[in-house]
Parts: sequence; structure tokens; C-alpha cells
Amino acid sequence: MKVASSLSDLRSTRLSLDGTVGLVPTMGYLHEGHLSLVRQAKAECDHVIVTIFVNPAQFGPNEDLSKYPRDLERDLSLLRPLGVDVVWTPSAEIMYPPGYQTWVEVEALTKGLEGAMRPGHFRGVTTVVSKLFNATQPHKAYFGQKDAQQAAVIRQMTRDLNFPIEIVVCPTQREVDGLAMSSRNKYLNEAERKAATVLFRALSAAKELYEAGERDAEKLRGRMKEVLASEPPAQMQYVSCADYDTLEELDMVKGKTLLSMAVFVGKTRLIDNFVLG
Ligand code: PAF
Repeated sequence: MKVASSLSDLRSTRLSLDGTVGLVPTMGYLHEGHLSLVRQAKAECDHVIVTIFVNPAQFGPNEDLSKYPRDLERDLSLLRPLGVDVVWTPSAEIMYPPGYQTWVEVEALTKGLEGAMRPGHFRGVTTVVSKLFNATQPHKAYFGQKDAQQAAVIRQMTRDLNFPIEIVVCPTQREVDGLAMSSRNKYLNEAERKAATVLFRALSAAKELYEAGERDAEKLRGRMKEVLASEPPAQMQYVSCADYDTLEELDMVKGKTLLSMAVFVGKTRLIDNFVLG
């Protein structure tokens, strides 16, 4: 497994790879969710490139950039047995050198949900993902369903900018009690970790209602709010029942639908979602 940090090293290594390349972009502190993306990339492509870069441009001024967990040696030891060909670990200076001034922005899709709560977040994500696409020139790129809006925004950007890349969205990996795997789960203390299952419980309760025939989106949102309110350490930021493609809030559920939420458990902000239909 080649570990490259400079852009020129990455580029020359990329040139030596024949056949198809799958890219798994990450911010490190890898967990089973990331590893499942790597396994799928490995099954579908001749070569796999993983990037590890904690992208400052997607963190707001009051977010956790400086505290974001990092452990490169641990990440590399998790990737080695999976047969990854290349790990690229660029620095912030490589990605955003002095004088940097070019940004990629997807418009309507980034207005709601995470975009509304985290101004500038998706501009940072789409900019860095474009740069990672250009640097690694993959045939396919793998993202997790847990970041449902991110996946939708990247699909839109890929289409709009004609990147010749297939975007593959892989299922959310969960702990046995349903908590979606996330590098941020590390911030939770024991009591918060227990309370954090409320996201999964709220989504499951709304899904149950849907499966019993309920199609009134406000009732599904209401059910999620009710379950979240039953767990006081959890403070809801938003719940949503939206069209899967446009991410617009629904009155009535018809086709493919995204139930999603952002919840603070203590100081940790967690997101999760289910797809219906
Ligand atoms: O999902 C993430 O970890 C990040 O948003 C990504 C796609 C690696 C871009 O920094």
C-alpha cells in the first residue's frame, strides 16, 4: 500500500495504475462505515485509492475542526489488510495553497437540511471533492448513505460538471443497537452513547407508521419529534420528511422519501436517516 502525501507523488502513482480505479474519500478516523466503502470499491474496481483529509473548508467557525479525531497510523493499519493500493494524505497547504480562490457550489439542493444548519458546509465539501476527483481521476467514487444530502449534492455536482465518474452510495453501517457509525460517536460519554440510540428509535417509529399506511408527512415528522422528546439529553435540531431527489419537504409521502434528522446529544451533533419507498 503506497502512502502519498504530495500531489506529484499521488499523480505519478495514479499514472502507474492500469484498469479501473475506485475512490473512497474520507476525513480519517476510520470506522466500519468507511471500511465497508473500501470493500465495495475493492469488489468493483481494479484499484482502490483512499484519501484522508480533514477538510477545513467544510467546518463552520463554531464547529469541531481542531478537535476532529485524527489517528493516521491506526487508519493505515485498518486499510492495509483490505488491499488498498494508494492512500493520499494531502496537507491543507496542498489543497488550499496561499492565494486559493476557486470554489464549487451546488445551489438549490444545499439550501435545506444540513445546508441550512451549516452555512458554507457543502461549498467546502463540493470544492474538496472536485479537487479529489481531479487529483485521483477515479472511475467510481464511494460515499455513505448516512450523509444522504452530501450524496445527493455530490451526484448533482458530478452530473453538472461532467465528471466521468459513477457515484456509488453504500448503506449506513450501524452498531448493534442501531446507532449509525460515525467518527463523532467518539465524543459521546457513556450516558450520551446510550441516549444516542434515540435517532434510530425515532426513525424506526416513523417508518413503522409509514408501513402501517400513514402518508401524511407532518404525522411522520411528529412521530420522530415525539420519540426524540422522550430522551432529554437529545436536543433536536431538525427532523425532515422530504422528497428523496429534490430534498424538498413533503405534505404527503408519494415516491422515494428521505426521513432525516440532526440531533445534539450533549455537545455532539449527530445525523441519521432512513429511505422510504
Ligand atoms: O463524508 C466525509 O467524510 C467528507 O465530507 C468528505 C466526502 C470526505 C469530504 O471531505
